[in-house]
Amino acid sequence: MSKKKSILDLHKMKNNGEKAKWVTAYDFPVASFAEQAGMDMILVGDSLGMIVQGLDGTVPVTMDQCIYHSQIVRRGAPNTFVIGDMPFGSYQVNDDDAVKNAVRFLKEANCDAIKLEGGVRVASKIKAISDAGIIVFGHIGLTPQSSGQMGGFKAQGLHVDSARDIIKDALAVEEAGALAVLLEGIPPELTEFIANTLAIPVYGIGAGAPCDGQVLVCGDLLGMFQNFTPKFAKKYTNLAEIVVTAFKEFIEDVDSGNFPENKHVYHVKDSVEDFQKLFDEFR
Ligand code: KIV
Repeated sequence: MSKKKSILDLHKMKNNGEKAKWVTAYDFPVASFAEQAGMDMILVGDSLGMIVQGLDGTVPVTMDQCIYHSQIVRRGAPNTFVIGDMPFGSYQVNDDDAVKNAVRFLKEANCDAIKLEGGVRVASKIKAISDAGIIVFGHIGLTPQSSGQMGGFKAQGLHVDSARDIIKDALAVEEAGALAVLLEGIPPELTEFIANTLAIPVYGIGAGAPCDGQVLVCGDLLGMFQNFTPKFAKKYTNLAEIVVTAFKEFIEDVDSGNFPENKHVYHVKDSVEDFQKLFDEFR
């Protein structure tokens, strides 16, 4: 098993041109599989609202839910760098709130870092959390918590004016003290410029190849999320199909008497005659 990465290791990877690979997880088995596979990081994303809770967005996800899932993920992946995702409302109100909630991820769930969405407009929160000694990952471009303002889950920075705002966000995030940033849903040309401009690692989801690593949502990568597959997600397997097929086979086996078989049952240790006598006592 490989050693847990530190933020210094992640910075070294950027400088050596080695890409970091990470995935979201919300539960023990997926976290454990990610660690066994050798992922560099795991994000306990607020995407749990969509992937686990069946919501149509991330906005209703609460701090307590994120802490609960982060604790479970940490148990499943004790040797992996785990990032807790700050849900909507946990850092927007004021800097003190932001620090208090970020601290919870470290103290209650033993996370290594937190991630929050936004650039210029959350710079004071990033600074306050970093000043408290916590590793902050920024998240800019398509920010699902503000998808209402964006008119939906839409790619960002496709035109010069909006790309300028994203570059300003990237610079603000780094300046405020974030030690890494995630770019979501932007064109690769913009990704490459930002990755080459910032000293901190620049990761991408739906941001093309030219950055310091890639993250995917486990529900997309594993084919567990059936509502829709974003253009940028690659399905590496189709767990939904595999699981439905297994469930159907179980139903058929029970109906046909093929399950349970002899090997699936506990056998009596005393003689059958003794058991007959026992049953007779109650007849
Ligand atoms: O919550 C999440 O899953 C995310 C993804 C964009 C990686 O932030």
